[in-house]
Amino acid sequence: MNEYCNIRVTASASYNVIIVENGLSYIGDYIKKEIGSCRLAMLTDNKVDSLYADTVIKSIEKSGMICSKYVIPNGEQSKNTDNVLKFINFMAEAHITRSDAVIALGGGVIGDMAGFAAAIYQRGIKYIQVPTTLLAAVDSSVGGKTAVDIPAGKNLIGAFHQPCMVFLDTATLKTLDPKVIRDGFAEVIKYGIILDANLFNVVSEATVADIKPIIKRCIEIKRDVVAADEFDHGMRGLLNFGHTIGHAIEKLSNYTVSHGEAVAKGMVRAAAIGAEYGLGDFSKPIIEVLKRYGFDLSCHYNAEEIYGAALSDKKRQDDEITLILPQEIGKCSLYKVSTKNLLSLLKRTEQL
Ligand SMILES: NC(=O)c1ccc[n+]([C@@H]2O[C@H](COP(=O)([O-])OP(=O)(O)OC[C@H]3O[C@@H](n4cnc5c(N)ncnc54)[C@H](O)[C@@H]3O)[C@@H](O)[C@H]2O)c1
Ligand SMILES: [Zn+2]
Repeated sequence: MNEYCNIRVTASASYNVIIVENGLSYIGDYIKKEIGSCRLAMLTDNKVDSLYADTVIKSIEKSGMICSKYVIPNGEQSKNTDNVLKFINFMAEAHITRSDAVIALGGGVIGDMAGFAAAIYQRGIKYIQVPTTLLAAVDSSVGGKTAVDIPAGKNLIGAFHQPCMVFLDTATLKTLDPKVIRDGFAEVIKYGIILDANLFNVVSEATVADIKPIIKRCIEIKRDVVAADEFDHGMRGLLNFGHTIGHAIEKLSNYTVSHGEAVAKGMVRAAAIGAEYGLGDFSKPIIEVLKRYGFDLSCHYNAEEIYGAALSDKKRQDDEITLILPQEIGKCSLYKVSTKNLLSLLKRTEQL
């Protein structure tokens, strides 16, 4: 087993993001060291369950702890209040107490749900993120945003609740479907566009031989953003680049378009809107890099449909909405746009 790195996140709670290679069977020892002995309630999905749950549970048991497992069907459609309540009932029946912890084994769907359940069960208990997708590794497992979807929109119920530990074994990423890997690259490319031109160039130019330094860099960026604005009053909004339109597309497609795919489409549209808004036009390099990763950038919804779905987005404030637009590659800013202006910008960028 190789420990690749350990990144300390400092927010309302501080914790380590531990990255190892082929180290899942040592997770029990890490948990004991990081948070002490406790009972664990695992949330995972059926796919990840069949691949990794046994290894994790065996390691936890070997370290002298007990782990109860709850499995939900994989996919965004599972990220709902029903499943959160079922998992919470499961925890109550397993006698999980305030000194115990939840363990999220899976991608962003599992991490968001398990984190939310941990935030509300007995007014908040600890949780450990064990991301197994690239997207969860670089983005959702760090920073403490937890949420579930409701019919009115995506992530509309949630809480800020920091994990007490993040443990990534990069070997788990080897079993990912290439399409799911690509979803993760949407967020990697996003980090490049909003805050790190060098990262953007690295993912634009070369074939990625080793993903670990890229994951590390993304987590460092997220760490810095979360340290500066944990509760999303300012610069954390930058991480939503491509997401207002992306979330609208996810919702309109009834979540058949994946989060990464929708964010890719949203970033292209946001770049076009930036150009219409009078900022520079950075569509070309953004489209080029996303195409290199095989993203389908077409949008099957018209301006009115996107506008309607985006208006229920939580980032709306009265008759204004905050858009994140690029000033250059590696630098984005937040712009408050009237909803009327948004509709007009969406119409003017319909023909991509
Ligand atoms: N909280 C945050 O800050 C934040 C940030 C970004 C995204 N998100 C959320 O993350 C979610 C998307 O996450 P995701 O892309 O990881 O989706 P996901 O959790 O649905 O995982 C994608 C698919 O990969 C499978 N899978 C997971 N790990 C695997 C492995 N190692 N090998 C093989 N298959 C595996 C899953 O079963 C699933 O079918 C969205 O709900 C999005 O809103 C949250
Ligand atoms: Zn995202």
